[in-house]
Order: sequence, then structure tokens, then C-alpha cells
Amino acid sequence: MTDPARAATPRLFFALWPPAGLADDLAAIAGAAARRCGGRASRRENIHLTLAFLGELPAAAVPALVEAGRRIAAAPFDLRIDRLGFWRHNQLLWAGCAPSPGLDALAAQLDAALAVGRPAPDERRPAFKAHLTLARKLPPATRPADVAGFFRADLPAWPCARFTLTASRLSPAGPSYTPLAEFLLR
Ligand code: 2AM
Repeated sequence: MTDPARAATPRLFFALWPPAGLADDLAAIAGAAARRCGGRASRRENIHLTLAFLGELPAAAVPALVEAGRRIAAAPFDLRIDRLGFWRHNQLLWAGCAPSPGLDALAAQLDAALAVGRPAPDERRPAFKAHLTLARKLPPATRPADVAGFFRADLPAWPCARFTLTASRLSPAGPSYTPLAEFLLR
């Protein structure tokens, strides 16, 4: 059973959200792969790319995070989804994108903004690995070749001009996400 105290404390993260057409395509890939390989496909509206994961934080932390988001001065950029992958350690099917200096610059700015007051670098989070989770709980025996065939080369480009601060609440039915603030790239 879900501990009510845990359920009350959302997990916060900054993220990019694909436009509707690309989200449709990624959800279709997720559904097809999960049907074939096993696992639970991400819901269409949940598909996103996390820029920075903050973990469980009280509501009192939100205003400073919104302020940090507002101070980001990064330029818009385009992303191109160019691969699917499988991580055995967390049984996760993901979509990855072609190298993007714009994405790296945004993630680095956020990381620097959030580093204020955090412990020394070697105690900080693992390196940023840009990905969009398409399905969870695939069988551990899944091979990269099993999922690669679901990739589509005709996916539309992803113009990134805004990002959000979002709260995640976990339930047995999967995560549900609530946007708390939106920030424009300029
Ligand atoms: P995931 O999809 O690979 O699990 C909300 O949980 C978002 O934050 C998800 O995109 C999740 O990535 C990401 N995230 C990054 N680090 C996380 C962590 N240590 N625990 C849970 N979610 C994390």
C-alpha cells in the first residue's frame, strides 16, 4: 500500500515535452515494443525528456526552483530522436536523440543553477543521460536488437522552445505528472 506521507511529497523535475505529433509517434513505438517484448508502455501524455531530477522536495522548495528556471537564459534548439535503447539495470526502453549543443547548454545551465547549496561535485547526481522513457519493466533478457527494430526514421524534428518544472506522483497505475511552471527559451 502507498504510504500517505510519501504520496504527499511529490518528486520534482525539470523536463522537455515533445510536440503532439512526435508524442503520438513515440507512444505508438512504446506500445508496439511493449506488446512484443513485454513491459509497460509509457502513457502518451507522460513521455518527456528530464533535464534535471530533483527528487522529493516539500512545497516550500518550489518558489526557489521556479526562480531558478526563470533565470535560465538558453536559446531554443531542435532535437532529433535517432535511436532506441534498452537499459537492463532498470529494465527500461528509451528513445535517445542526436547530440545537441543546445540541449547540453540548457542542462548545464540548470545543473549550475541547482548546484547552489549542494554538496561537492563528487557527491552529486550521476551524469546527465538524455532519454525519453518509452516503457518500463521489460524482461531483463531483452536484447538491444529486440527493441532497435521499433525505431522509425521518419520521426518529425522536435523544436524545443520551452521547458517545465513538473511534479511526479507515483501510484500503482504508474506516475502522474503535474506541471508547476513553464519557462521559455529565448
Ligand atoms: P526515468 O524515466 O528514466 O525513470 C520523473 O521521475 C523523471 O525523473 C523521469 O524522467 C525519471 O527518469 C527522471 N529521473 C532522473 N533521475 C531519477 C531518479 N534518481 N529517480 C527517479 N527518477 C529519476
